[in-house]
Amino acid sequence: MLRQALLFASRSGGARRIVRTAPFTGDVVRRFVAGETVEDAARVTGDLTAEGLLVTLDVLGEDTEDGGRAEANAEHYVALLERLGAAGLGARAEVSVKLSAIGSSLGEELALENARRICGAARSASTTVTLDMEEHTTVDATLRIVHELRRDFPDVGAVIQAYLRRAEEHCADLAYEGSRVRLCKGAYAAPEAVAFTDKEEIDKSFVRCMKVLMAGKGYPMLATHDPRLIDIGGALAVLNERGADTFEYQMLYGIRSAEQRRLADKGAQVRVYVAYGQDWYEYFMRRLAERPSNLKLFARSLVGR
Ligand code: FDA
Repeated sequence: MLRQALLFASRSGGARRIVRTAPFTGDVVRRFVAGETVEDAARVTGDLTAEGLLVTLDVLGEDTEDGGRAEANAEHYVALLERLGAAGLGARAEVSVKLSAIGSSLGEELALENARRICGAARSASTTVTLDMEEHTTVDATLRIVHELRRDFPDVGAVIQAYLRRAEEHCADLAYEGSRVRLCKGAYAAPEAVAFTDKEEIDKSFVRCMKVLMAGKGYPMLATHDPRLIDIGGALAVLNERGADTFEYQMLYGIRSAEQRRLADKGAQVRVYVAYGQDWYEYFMRRLAERPSNLKLFARSLVGR
């Protein structure tokens, strides 16, 4: 119930205005959002990569319905990638892109065109792009764009959300050589008809999907903070005789940071998803929805404690 209410609020213009203009939300937001500028992103990326972690950067700004804004978001990614390339960070830091930030609501062609520019800039910086997965209604279009982009940029990463009933089928389609696939549980509200809503069922689906990806020929990116699923991922790597360089774990900036370092110290590849930018509202609300205790922290910040 609470999760649904927070996800609903993440789409509400009124709630966005109240939360965004409240100055006291700062510290709580900063736990999950690395900052507002390219400089902030470059600094955090430098720090994390110096500790042996990999990074994927998300420029916040989803759900754009304005063509100029979509273009500006794509330009921001290009500038970020130039910065990563110039700093020699391409081997350790890539970008994650939401198609809704670069114009998908205005048409698939526009989003594809903007995504191509970003992929070109990523190639010049010797790095890669992963297309985040958003609302369940956008899954088919996103996968179409992934397939289209992969004709020229075979290393474009796809995301599968385990809570979707079709997830296992999509994993089987995507488990081919060279295919980079991030598996996550799924962070958006979705109806019973298309998604599992019970935690146990979502976890079981995640395990089924992991089995398919880890037994396949692609490059799985296991995006979860769930200790049980991380252990199962490790066991599947052993079972499928996968070397540490043939898959990676992924976690969000600000969540289970000690675990990120523990896995990396053991020799695993761990990538941290670092979101930054001024448009943090939707991203932040999804982080609250994932864990009720985050809401307590947030509530405390509202009363100034
Ligand atoms: P779960 O929610 O069960 O959490 C397991 C444990 O992790 C919790 O008990 C807690 O300890 C910790 N934890 C998890 N979330 C927390 C939070 N917000 N605050 C504090 N602790 C927390 N989703 C999507 O729909 N499309 C996408 O493209 C992506 N991309 C993506 C990339 C990466 C790198 C990650 C890690 C996640 C995503 N997600 C996503 C989000 C994902 O779908 C999911 O909502 C979150 O990862 C939370 O699910 P867990 O697997 O961590 O399990």
